[in-house]
Amino acid sequence: MTITAPPPSTAPGPAPTSTLLDFRDVAMTFPNGTVALHGVDLTVQRGEFVSVVGPSGCGKSTLLRIASGLEAASHGTASVATDRIGYVFQDATLLPWRSVRANVELLAELHKTPKAARAAKAQEAIDLVGLTGFEKSLPKQLSGGMRMRTSLARSLTLDPELFLFDEPFGALDEITRERLNDELLRLFVEKQFAGLFITHSVSEAVYLSTKVIVMSGRPGSIVRAFDVPFPMPRDPDIRFTAEFGELVGEVSHALKEGHR
Ligand SMILES: Nc1ncnc2c1ncn2[C@@H]1O[C@H](COP(=O)(O)OP(=O)(O)OP(=O)(O)O)[C@@H](O)[C@H]1O
Ligand SMILES: [Mg+2]
Repeated sequence: MTITAPPPSTAPGPAPTSTLLDFRDVAMTFPNGTVALHGVDLTVQRGEFVSVVGPSGCGKSTLLRIASGLEAASHGTASVATDRIGYVFQDATLLPWRSVRANVELLAELHKTPKAARAAKAQEAIDLVGLTGFEKSLPKQLSGGMRMRTSLARSLTLDPELFLFDEPFGALDEITRERLNDELLRLFVEKQFAGLFITHSVSEAVYLSTKVIVMSGRPGSIVRAFDVPFPMPRDPDIRFTAEFGELVGEVSHALKEGHR
């Protein structure tokens, strides 16, 4: 009998650790004098999914807009080491006259991707978010969750290395939100993008993330950072464990403290 050595593992190793987003002492004062952010130091590494929670108006969307390059910080440095950035807003921002497929193709179209490649990319993204069969539907024929999936698919066509999310599931009911959380986690594991995710829900932040950042009231600064110890892929049942509940409690407490 011959015993052969097992074949070398073909599983991808962990992606190299590198910093995709690096904020140093970032501040933002708008021309009208509103100070939205103050002294923000934040990094997002490859392989990380970082959630940000903070009171309304503390500067979370401003932080994301600076990360995306839509807005320039008024102080400090905000470096992003990739130009493959996905951005998903709270509103799905779909063009009402375009079908799901045409909406998903939009970004690739703007990037002048050739037609056949664009169609293939769009179909792959549509399949990934579970919208197969709805390619020809118009946004008004979709549920809120399906519209959000379309928006996710549109950003996925860019193969983002850094994915920015501004409360994407805030307007959805609890069950749809939990389902989309699981879909997003699956995509995170499969596509290996880094995430920066804004939410009002502490349990959503803990469930999705490798790290949770807590911001103070305006001008927003980072008051605490929590590493989330639960492994990926994440078991949905961790939400019912005592460890999960404890961490949610600690983050909620820090949020209240920072708000005072
Ligand atoms: N272009 C702008 N000019 C002046 N002030 C602005 C501008 N954009 C945002 N602000 C102000 O900056 C502060 C932070 O706004 P931002 O939208 O970043 O908050 P947020 O944390 O995302 O709030 P929410 O949780 O409600 O979405 C707010 O006081 C807002 O009014
Ligand atoms: Mg906001």
